Amino acid sequence: MRDEFPIFNEHPDLIYLDSAATSHKPACVIDAITKAYGKEYGTVHRALYRASVKATESYNETRETACRFLNAASSQEIIFTRGTTDAINLVAQSYGRTFLKAGDEILISEMEHHSNIVPWQMVAEQTGAILRWIPMDDRGVLQWKGLISPRTKLIALAHISNVTGTINPIREIAAKKSAGSSPFENRCASARLRLLRLFRTQMLWTDRYWHFVWKKRAA
Ligand SMILES: Cc1ncc(COP(=O)(O)O)c(C=O)c1O
Repeated sequence: MRDEFPIFNEHPDLIYLDSAATSHKPACVIDAITKAYGKEYGTVHRALYRASVKATESYNETRETACRFLNAASSQEIIFTRGTTDAINLVAQSYGRTFLKAGDEILISEMEHHSNIVPWQMVAEQTGAILRWIPMDDRGVLQWKGLISPRTKLIALAHISNVTGTINPIREIAAKKSAGSSPFENRCASARLRLLRLFRTQMLWTDRYWHFVWKKRAA
């Protein structure tokens, strides 16, 4: 695996732990970027000249590849963003501003990165929704039981904490979310959602379907 990354040829002793912030690129990605900029560059989806058609094809192929990788139902569910903060703000300001109402609850946890806190604080302020926090115990384990109710309209959690290394029981939380009897919880069974950000860790559920994220159908 290390051989795929030119950075380790330059710095053989390097141990890199900051991938959540800035991911190093393997040679195949660097080569593809160089090829795209050097040989095939043109506007995407907006012109008929050769370079534009080629760039558009490559762009769409990438969407298909991401779709297969994530097991998404359709490539239309794939939206490229500049990063985690950008992606979560997009969800908060599109889905959140449209569907959250005063009194609805958004559930996040005490172990979240800022990118998974501030967008929800803003949308809570804008809609009157209430932001609730799942606390952690001394071992860094989330104490989430009893905090999910029919008022919970959205849960946004890190899968793995980059600070404590805790792996959160995402499946269990999702199952709890979908096992209840209220219409809201039942709808949620068909809308288990993961934010599209490859190699990042934030997980997010809502009670509705939307296109910015990967929708994984309940088994
Ligand atoms: C764990 C974690 N999540 C999210 C982010 C934010 O990522 P982005 O810069 O893509 O918005 C970072 C950035 O440092 C991070 O370390």
